[in-house]
Amino acid sequence: MDADVAKRLAAQAAADLVPDAGVVGLGTGSTTRYFINEVGRLVSEGRKLSAVPTSRRSRELATELRIPLLDDMGPWDIDLCVDGADEVSAELDLIKGGGGAHTREKIVNRHSRQNVIIVDESKISRRLGEKRTVPLEVVVFGHRATGAALRGFGEPALRFAGDDPFLTDSGNYIYDLETGPIEDPVELEEELRHLPGVIETGLFCGRADIVIVAGSSSVELWHRDGRRYPAKKT
Ligand code: A5P
Repeated sequence: MDADVAKRLAAQAAADLVPDAGVVGLGTGSTTRYFINEVGRLVSEGRKLSAVPTSRRSRELATELRIPLLDDMGPWDIDLCVDGADEVSAELDLIKGGGGAHTREKIVNRHSRQNVIIVDESKISRRLGEKRTVPLEVVVFGHRATGAALRGFGEPALRFAGDDPFLTDSGNYIYDLETGPIEDPVELEEELRHLPGVIETGLFCGRADIVIVAGSSSVELWHRDGRRYPAKKT
């Protein structure tokens, strides 16, 4: 199945979980864009929803779609957050931050009652780090020193956008850390977060309640407790 079709199907399955009224967290990325479009449709049909976007890009799209938005400062009372991921392990731990939005995404995730991740099946792996590097949001001041310290954990590379370092929505840099398959993602997340200068890691451990996986033959909901079942046909 074409990855874009799979992303859209996963987003549609997530839209079935949106309440009639309440606050929805909007992730960032190409998969989540499909979900934000779904929320726009639900609002135009009369659902009483408001949303908290996790990036400027998601805020812009949600604004175009006339989704009522809460401000960036919080506090929020979020019923459901739907977001994408770059890699998903068998334990439903995640690597996020391919778009550089993982710090805001982790904040919104923390303040949501339910977290649903939508992916196409190419994102699934046995162990995190098999397919993707771990993005780290890093303070610009002293970033080369922080980058050198990251060598204790793998091969770090400063992310660029053209000729200049990529800047996050909060004005920080991103280092992408090549780790190889990660033995203990909880421990690695802990250790990386203790490095001065590292604001947040793209490791999301124990933070997904449901992962919706769209593949060539099915769309399935994978629950944290191990249950897996097909999405209802829409
Ligand atoms: C944004 O920084 C990321 O965490 C995205 O959620 C993740 O990269 C998935 O993006 P795609 O849906 O575009 O693959």
